[in-house]
Amino acid sequence: MANVAVVGTQWGDEGKGKVVDLYTEKADIVARFQGGNNAGHTLVVKGRKTILHLIPSGILHDNKICVIGNGVVFDPLVFLQEIEELQQGSLLPPNTKLFVSEKSHLIMPYHRSIDQAREARTSGKKIGTTGRGIGPAYEDKVARTGIRVGDLYEEDLFREKLRQNLEEKNFLLTNYYKDKPLDEEEIATQYLAYGQKIKPYVADTSLILDYEIKQGKKILFEGAQGSHLDIDHGTYPYVTSSNTVSANASCGSGIGPNTISTVVGICKAYTTRVGEGPFPTELKDDIGNHMQQVGQEFGATTGRKRRCGWLDMVLVRQAVRVSGITALAITKLDVLTGLDKLKICVGYESARGQFTYAAPASMRVLSACQPIYEELDGWKEDILYAREMNELPANARKYLKRLEELAEAKIVLVSVGAGREETIILEDPFHNKAP
Ligand code: IMP
Repeated sequence: MANVAVVGTQWGDEGKGKVVDLYTEKADIVARFQGGNNAGHTLVVKGRKTILHLIPSGILHDNKICVIGNGVVFDPLVFLQEIEELQQGSLLPPNTKLFVSEKSHLIMPYHRSIDQAREARTSGKKIGTTGRGIGPAYEDKVARTGIRVGDLYEEDLFREKLRQNLEEKNFLLTNYYKDKPLDEEEIATQYLAYGQKIKPYVADTSLILDYEIKQGKKILFEGAQGSHLDIDHGTYPYVTSSNTVSANASCGSGIGPNTISTVVGICKAYTTRVGEGPFPTELKDDIGNHMQQVGQEFGATTGRKRRCGWLDMVLVRQAVRVSGITALAITKLDVLTGLDKLKICVGYESARGQFTYAAPASMRVLSACQPIYEELDGWKEDILYAREMNELPANARKYLKRLEELAEAKIVLVSVGAGREETIILEDPFHNKAP
């Protein structure tokens, strides 16, 4: 058995899409287990840029099974639009199957309205959400008032749930947020029609995964966002509304935790963050601009400029611990090329003492933390063509070595450019040996 979970070690946007895409070649099944269309995996395949927000990026490969698990919040319109886009670009391979869990919770129009109205109202205290209705959809799931994909096939029950929800949501929207009410019949007609269109994809995905595992098939669990956006372990409240850590690969897809054999943490060679919240190593200078420009650091979902800063190993070490990461994939190393000196944050200094393995839970304390840096020499050589570690400049290797020591996890892949081939592969996590 070799099932691999891939999770972000920072605040999302670590470049998971490319790594997942590469590992998909080794896997039979790719499963998403949390989040929704707040994610954005940018892939460059055959020189063509493709962004997938909801459908697993494994869809671009033939002979795979792609699963959207029960832990995902599902916007049927986005799903249908992505399928159409893939079809138009002739990117849908003939033998790849796509399934969505009947237990996935639907993102409804009122979830989007509440998400956006709430963010607009709380000026100064924004989370900086993607405005896709993710948080409100998870709220309803936990409140046990959510509507699930499977409900679309029991029209009377669906209409009743919608009516009950709208009674409350329209009250909130009009009276509290001073927004427009939403029309029940319009939503019912729209969603019941979506239900018919997505019907061929709807299934009990837990059973599918279990069956495939028993056939000896290999699963790749594709995490969205990153460890520090996790609802429990992240920089709360500046987080997303799901558990992004590896353990949720099990809950969010309906298989036992013992089926995950390796957890690969994706770590960008520097740090970025979109949305609000403390960011101890943030750079608001030329170096930060260099990272933003050269790294093309714009949010794949919202187009917002990402905040950039030095690599923060306090964050990475915490992510390694909470997700049981044993293998690290380092991305966007090429973005650091040309910088004279590089800094790695190895701890935080604060009035409460030092933090080295975990970020403080209090956002007030974290905001006041000063990073403790180690300085290393940079490199000037173009690394885009490196395919082996020894083809990297000595200073790039030193940087990676230090990262590996601090993380206490082994580097198994280094990405040196956006293209699939611009990668140094050291180990195959499905086999734990060089491919
Ligand atoms: P939400 O997930 O849309 O509710 O947004 C909550 C926070 O998570 C915001 O700071 C978003 O910018 C951030 N976020 C959500 N999805 C992603 C992602 O895929 N990458 C990076 N940040 C994300």
